Amino acid sequence: MKGVILAGGKGTRLYPLTKVTNKHLLPVGKEPMIYNPIKQLISCDIHEILIVTSKEHMGDVVNLLGSGRELNCDFTFKVQEEALGIANALSLAENFANSEKIAVILGDNITVKSIKPYVEEFIKQDKGAKVFLKKVEDPQRYGIAALDEMSIIEIEEKPQKPKSHFAVIGLYMYDSKVFDVIRSIQPSVRGEFEITNVNNSYLKNGQLTYNILQGDWTDAGTFESYEYANKMLFEVGNQIL
Ligand code: G1P
Repeated sequence: MKGVILAGGKGTRLYPLTKVTNKHLLPVGKEPMIYNPIKQLISCDIHEILIVTSKEHMGDVVNLLGSGRELNCDFTFKVQEEALGIANALSLAENFANSEKIAVILGDNITVKSIKPYVEEFIKQDKGAKVFLKKVEDPQRYGIAALDEMSIIEIEEKPQKPKSHFAVIGLYMYDSKVFDVIRSIQPSVRGEFEITNVNNSYLKNGQLTYNILQGDWTDAGTFESYEYANKMLFEVGNQIL
């Protein structure tokens, strides 16, 4: 399995911290934010990692990460020319994935516990995709799963009237069909190719599994969540347990 970290976007909710710096390079605990998803992938024995970021910040990202030798992994870099959404950024991973399954992490999703057991489960999963759910207090900010007992009925992106408190967080696993799925979806009203539509397409085909993520998690895209991410990583000394 290979890993993909999506580290594009403008980070407007953290302005002016992100005026000259990419959000994923900001410090969280004692390290740049992007080290956390990298360490998460390495904890799952995933060492071939593609980083997708914007043209403006690619230089800084490469300066920080280099080849990967220092972190014991092997980086590939791809530029997302326009901020057309998470699924659009992921589409750039097609050649890199080379028909293997992939684990995808949004670069601002901070975790402290290894997802290796779930990765092993997904390696055995015949086909399809896997997502992670986590209970949140502010469901309007996320992709939210409508649940019927234990099954996901539908995922809604940033719903005004959320049908549950279970967010589909920014860690995903896909089979090699994901790139065909991305080609089949239309942009949303905000003009972005939404990862939620990709996940809903797998769901419709009965090919979406999920786990409730164990261990603490946060995104770090707002001042409040960024502060919490710092607290989380200072507490564990920037380790994945
Ligand atoms: C993105 C996804 C959303 C997901 C969230 C997790 O939202 O679109 O479905 O729940 O990441 O961090 P963003 O916060 O990038 O707008």
